[in-house]
Amino acid sequence: MKPNLSQPEFTISSVEQRPSFATLKWADGHESRFHYVWLRHSEHFPAFPDDARDGREHRLAGMGSDAEPDKIEVGASGALRIGWRDRDAPVEFDARWLRQHCYSSSARGQRRHKPVLWDSRLRNDMPEVSFPDIARDDAARLAFYQSILDYGFCFVRDMPQDRGTVTALGDLLGIARRSAYADEPGDERIENLQTDSDVKVSTRQAYFLGPHTDTCWRLSLTGLICFHCLESHATGGETLLVDAFNVCNKLREKSPDAFDILSRVKLNFRASVNNGDEWRSIGQVITCDNDGEVVGFRYGDRSIPPLDLPEDLIEPVYSALSALGDVLYDPANWITCKLQPGEGLVLNNQRLLHGRTSFDPAAGPRHLQYCAVELDTFHNKYRHLARASNHDDWDHVLDWGVC
Ligand SMILES: [Fe+2]
Repeated sequence: MKPNLSQPEFTISSVEQRPSFATLKWADGHESRFHYVWLRHSEHFPAFPDDARDGREHRLAGMGSDAEPDKIEVGASGALRIGWRDRDAPVEFDARWLRQHCYSSSARGQRRHKPVLWDSRLRNDMPEVSFPDIARDDAARLAFYQSILDYGFCFVRDMPQDRGTVTALGDLLGIARRSAYADEPGDERIENLQTDSDVKVSTRQAYFLGPHTDTCWRLSLTGLICFHCLESHATGGETLLVDAFNVCNKLREKSPDAFDILSRVKLNFRASVNNGDEWRSIGQVITCDNDGEVVGFRYGDRSIPPLDLPEDLIEPVYSALSALGDVLYDPANWITCKLQPGEGLVLNNQRLLHGRTSFDPAAGPRHLQYCAVELDTFHNKYRHLARASNHDDWDHVLDWGVC
């Protein structure tokens, strides 16, 4: 069978055999380099990951590191055909599968979801959906998921003004987890955000709350945050949002050394609660992937205790935190909004920072309900729906979050 030239991106036009890898040229001009050790590993995943679960022995240790091909050619069907020196029978690799798994820089970049970075100019065009629409319609729900992936947040209008609706929203997104501080009778996932001067946690007070990520003092920090407004305050108490990915890119331009330190040095985070809880975690403020792209952010002014680091890092890390603060607290990077009763907000807590402007607690009640959804359960739900909806990019690499 001749190669299908109607799909040049899946047609191998030539193969060059080198000492440790083969270079494939494709009919559309793209070039891929496949190392022999990678190809030996890939024999366990010839077409679909499920094939790797067939019970064959499969060890990564030492696998194929000295494997040498005798002959590499394009087979009659268009597949890559490799005869290994230590094997009798040649192995064929499907050309389409190889191209889809090409790990050249450009191919990896194309398979990556591209977040839409934003600053205060987004305030007149913020993403929003209607709760009844996303509850009953797959296309509306997929658009909702994509807004969260693109912008890191989305407003939800037309929510019932009933207590507990916030977990109905959370269930549309993934698995809402139990909260150590749940206070809604009958539901261990819901926290009530209401003013109470007797409870000395920030969410129960009325003062200004600067931009932060929630639970950065936990190793498994919150993924998506869902807010649902039941009672709104007349003045003040506005929600503040900041795109940390945008802030990080600005920091990288302005102070590359600060960016480097905060993406490399692990800091301690902590929280002490008046019930005796003592939370501790450690991690970088900025999480980057293997290509240097920012994929996660962890920060809270009041969650970083006096630094406990090697002596030579103390001054550089304080200097880097100061440079970060200059960008973070620049109002040009903020948007503020006010949730009204019946409105909700979903935000990715491992990308966006949020805060709250101050308000007068004597001027009336303010009541939000809150639940947290694990980020990977949201990603999983997105892939399910995007694949079922025939979206070609359903398997794109998403921003992993903090790790
Ligand atoms: Fe918060």
